[in-house]
Amino acid sequence: MLRPPGPKPHFLVGNLPLAAKDPLATFLSWAREFGDIFYYRAGWLHVYFLNHPDLIESVLVKNYQNFLKDRVVRNSRWFFGEGLLTNEGESWRRQRRLSQPAFHRERVSSYARVMTDYTREMLAHWRDGEVRDIHQEMMQLTLRVVVRCLFGVEADEIGAVSAAMNTIMRNTTGLRMLLPPSARYVPLPSMIEFRRAVRRLDETVYRIIETRRRDERDSGDLLSMLIEARDEDGSRMSAEQLRDEVLTFLLAGHETTALALSWAWHLLGRHPEVEARLEDELGAKLQGRAPAFSDLAALNYTERVLKEVLRLYPPAWSLARTVISDFELGGYTIPAGANVVMSQWIMHHDSRYFRDPERFDPDRWLDPGMQKLPRFAYFPFGGGPRQCIGASFATMEALLILATVAQRFRFDPVPDHELIPIPSFTLRPKRGIRMKLVAREGTGSERLEIPVVAGGD
Ligand code: HEM
Repeated sequence: MLRPPGPKPHFLVGNLPLAAKDPLATFLSWAREFGDIFYYRAGWLHVYFLNHPDLIESVLVKNYQNFLKDRVVRNSRWFFGEGLLTNEGESWRRQRRLSQPAFHRERVSSYARVMTDYTREMLAHWRDGEVRDIHQEMMQLTLRVVVRCLFGVEADEIGAVSAAMNTIMRNTTGLRMLLPPSARYVPLPSMIEFRRAVRRLDETVYRIIETRRRDERDSGDLLSMLIEARDEDGSRMSAEQLRDEVLTFLLAGHETTALALSWAWHLLGRHPEVEARLEDELGAKLQGRAPAFSDLAALNYTERVLKEVLRLYPPAWSLARTVISDFELGGYTIPAGANVVMSQWIMHHDSRYFRDPERFDPDRWLDPGMQKLPRFAYFPFGGGPRQCIGASFATMEALLILATVAQRFRFDPVPDHELIPIPSFTLRPKRGIRMKLVAREGTGSERLEIPVVAGGD
C-alpha cells in the first residue's frame, strides 16, 4: 500500500515523537518537510498526520461517520464512562441533543456574575510584588467556576467535589488517564489515592443527582438542565448518564479554559505594547467596574487578544480519530484501524494562513484576508458534529476573567523561569507559569471586598 512520506523509522519502534526532547518542534518540522499529509509508525500504531484544512474538514465534517475517537480517548472511558467526550454513535447523538440546551446563550450568560465574583474573590488574596504560579491560580479559579455553574449554590458538597477534583488533577499528568483500564488496579500509592478520589467524587455526584431529582425544580444550574432534559419520546438521562456528563463537564470544562488564560498572561507579560492596549480598552469601556455579560460585545481588543492566544497556544493542541473502514484521502488509502491526527498547533503556526505565524499580534484578526481563512486553518474548539459544546461558555469565561484581572494587575516574567509547553492530553506548561504580580495604580494592593456570589447576572 502506498504510504504518504514521513520520517525515517527506527526498525523496531518506528518513531516516537511524543518522547522527543521537543515534540511540538518535531511535529512542525515534519509538517514542513513532508507537506499536507505525513505518515509514521509509533510502535504498533499507524499514524497519518493531516496538515491541510480540506483534509481535516473531510475527516471532521464530511466523513465523520467513518471515524471513532482515538484509542487514547477510548481508554479514558473508565473515568468518563459514556460522557459526551468519549461516547459514540446513536448514544452520543442522544446525549448531545439532551445536553445542548444547557449551553444555550441565555443559560450560559446567566453564569457571568459567578465568573466575575469568583475572580474578584481570587484577586482579594493577591498582593503587589508577589510571585505566583499563574497556571495554578487559573486552574483553581476555573474549577470553582465550573463546579458552581454545574451544581448551583444549594449543594453543600461543592467543597468535597473541588477537593476530589484537585486530587484527580494532581494525579493526572495526562498519562494516567491514558493507561489501559487494567492499570488503575496497580497498587501504587498515587494510583490508590487517585482511585479513592474518583470513588469519593462518584459518591458525592450521585448523592447530589439523587437529591436534585427528588426536588424537580430548575435551580438555574447546568445539572438541573440535564435532569430536566427530555428526548422526543419523553425519556430522560439515567443517573449513570448524568454522572458521566457531569464528570466530563467538570474535567473538560476547567483545564482548557485555565490553560487559555495562563498562556494569555504569559504572552501579555512578554508583550507590553499589547498589554497596554488591553488596559486602555478596559479603562475606556469599563471605567473600573467589573465587566458584565452585556459589556463583552464592546471589548473588541480583548476578544482579539483571546483569539490570538488560542491560535498561538491552543489548549487542545491536536485531535485524533481511528479509521473504521479503509478511506481515501489526499491520494492515499488510509487503512481501517489507523490513527488520523489533526493538530491545531501545526495549522495555527502555518505561514500559508498566518503571516509571520510566531508573532503575537491580536490585530492580525482585523486583516480582511482573515475573513477568508479556510474553516480548518483555525479550529481551537474542533469542528463538525463533535465540536466543543462548551465553546461559548469557555469564551465568555475567558473574556470575563481576562478583563477582571487585567483591570487590577499585570504580570512580569520571572527571570530564569523557562516556559515549556508540553503536548499532553492538553497543551500544559511543564513547570507552571511563575510570574510577578504588579498591581495597577490604586487597585490590587489594598484588600478588595470579597463579594458574595449571587445568582444570575
Ligand atoms: C478554551 C477552552 C476549551 C477548549 C480549547 C476546548 C476544546 C475542545 C475541542 C477541540 C473539542 C473537540 C474534541 C474532538 O473533536 O475530539 C472539545 C470537545 C468538548 N468540550 Fe471543549 N474546550 C474548551 C472548553 C470547554 C468547556 C468550558 C466545556 C464544558 C463546560 C467543554 C466541554 C466539552 C465537551 C463535553 C466536548 C465533547 C463534545 C462532543 O463530542 O459532543 N469544553 N473541546
